[in-house]
Amino acid sequence: MNINNIHNTCLDEKLDLPKPNYWLGVWDGPIYYRKMFTSLIREYKTNVVEIGSHNGSTTYFLGKMLEPFNKKVYTIDPWNGAQEGNDSVYKDYLNNTKDLTNLVTMRESSLSHIAYWHLKNTDYGICYIDGLHTREGIRNDIRMVSATIKAPYVMLIDDYDMPEIADEIDIAVKGNVIQLINPPNQDMFYNNYPDKGRKFAICIKGVA
Ligand SMILES: C[S@@+](CC[C@H](N)C(=O)[O-])C[C@H]1O[C@@H](n2cnc3c(N)ncnc32)[C@H](O)[C@@H]1O
Repeated sequence: MNINNIHNTCLDEKLDLPKPNYWLGVWDGPIYYRKMFTSLIREYKTNVVEIGSHNGSTTYFLGKMLEPFNKKVYTIDPWNGAQEGNDSVYKDYLNNTKDLTNLVTMRESSLSHIAYWHLKNTDYGICYIDGLHTREGIRNDIRMVSATIKAPYVMLIDDYDMPEIADEIDIAVKGNVIQLINPPNQDMFYNNYPDKGRKFAICIKGVA
């Protein structure tokens, strides 16, 4: 993959999907997120895993983008009270994603063995890591995904601006678990929306 080409495409891309009337995720986050996912999905046509789905707004977007390629979105989220997820959010998730025909939901913590085995047996090449934002959570997710993701091995990790997440990414890079391939111009990762400052780490599987 030539990441710079994807970045250039992303900046020009115009999306024609209707915006749903609920908040969160790729819709009201940096517009760059949508463009990045769109370009990656069109380029690689692979199933996508989302760890941490909250109310399903990004899930819906991913599902819609994957439909034309007959590919699926797999989600893993316990909706157990941690990190803004709970029963009520799960109900919203079910409602927001009810139209998707290519969604596989696993209501489990990504820290569980069952999540690991699920991913081990799932054919997916892109993962959006946005679940438990603790050091333990992000460390687990990076390692689990690196051990189970298939080609093209692309991981997008949200909230790279959080020091503990950046630190865990750095540790994983130093241990060759992942390679960080963000372009030098980090401004591309910011938007001018209220949550200005959020950004992705774009990674591929390392050699460890
Ligand atoms: C920031 S929200 C995700 C937002 C979503 N990706 C989006 O773009 O709309 C974090 C989610 O992580 C979930 N979560 C908390 N603990 C988790 C765990 N151990 N494994 C997976 N997901 C977890 C929460 O239930 C919550 O829904």
